[in-house]
Amino acid sequence: MAKLTLRDLDLKGKKVLVRADFNVPQDESLNITDDTRIKATLPTIQYILKNDAARVILISHLGRPKGKVVEKYSLKPVAKRLSDLLGEPVKFSNNCVGEQTEKDIQGAKERIVLLENLRFHPEEEANDSAFAKQLASLADIYVNDAFGTAHRAHASTEGVAHNIKSAAGFLLEKEIEYLGSSIKDPKKPFMVILGGAKVSDKIGVIENLLPKSDVILIGGGMSYTFLKAQGRTIGNSKLEEDKLDLARSLLDKAKSLNKEIILPVDHIVVDQIKPEAKKEEVGCDIPEGKIAVDIGGKTVALFKEKLKTAKTIIWNGPMGIFEIDAFSRGTEEIAKFITTLKATTIIGGGDTAAAVMKFKLEDKMTHISTGGGASLEFLEGKTLPGIAALSEK
Ligand code: 3PG
Repeated sequence: MAKLTLRDLDLKGKKVLVRADFNVPQDESLNITDDTRIKATLPTIQYILKNDAARVILISHLGRPKGKVVEKYSLKPVAKRLSDLLGEPVKFSNNCVGEQTEKDIQGAKERIVLLENLRFHPEEEANDSAFAKQLASLADIYVNDAFGTAHRAHASTEGVAHNIKSAAGFLLEKEIEYLGSSIKDPKKPFMVILGGAKVSDKIGVIENLLPKSDVILIGGGMSYTFLKAQGRTIGNSKLEEDKLDLARSLLDKAKSLNKEIILPVDHIVVDQIKPEAKKEEVGCDIPEGKIAVDIGGKTVALFKEKLKTAKTIIWNGPMGIFEIDAFSRGTEEIAKFITTLKATTIIGGGDTAAAVMKFKLEDKMTHISTGGGASLEFLEGKTLPGIAALSEK
């Protein structure tokens, strides 16, 4: 890696500012319902402590409070969960900059201090340079471990790094290693599975990965726009009318590159998207009035047949509405199948990661990204500002 990483740093006696992505889901009573992102940063925190740093100062955002203090977006519940996971106390400061926060850090008996949500300040998302300087002044070294937010050029992810020695944490490094090497030098055959609701979310990924991959398999909501572009009927299924020409041109491009884009050949359809709705399996053309909610059995078999020789698989986007058990079969079958292959399996964050966790297959994948938008932008081949700003080795 061209950037400094945690291993390059002398941490002894240093105050280390760590940008984490603690943007975790919570229920109505503010209980954390998935702590994957907190757990994913533990190796970085533990390494810093083990190497005799004076203090770990953690910063993060939670939700989108739009520059105002919104109690439900407080990071307080994260401090509690972090402390439970680490088995040591974590001090919480009610702000992320200012005199009181500085006092909280100076006077802390604890080795770890978590500061309140950065996005309570409008300066964070505005990448305000004075705010970035204030953050930097809290510590001697800055470590970015927030891969999930690395696509945002915010004060705590980008601006701060211009004021202080900055390095990548272990999570950021691991994400770059898996996502990056799979794109640069994937073991072939390299296959990409794409799904999810919108074609528009995945255009950049298809354009970037089409020349590098051997096969792209498309299922889920976005596949109906492609099918319609091929002249199929799609009933009342998800359609992005304004993306039809683009879908056609992507299919043509695949042909001209001698690459395969494989679309579903059958579907599970319903009249209404309700868990109790009566399901039907139909062929490639979806009858009028019907809504496709999952790939059908023949598609599952076709996708498995294609995937069985893969040596590298990147998967981003579910094959159907997996959140509803009745429509989750296609996504589950594909997820289970790829765990049986001798292939590197890389799962994009967001919905795909949630699906893999729902089926309890997370330990069987090579890598599950903690970034939703960030992993997509990375796979599009974009430079992520949070990585670009770090100090060179
Ligand atoms: C995410 O959940 O994708 C990251 O934490 C980034 O959050 P944002 O989309 O609100 O910037």
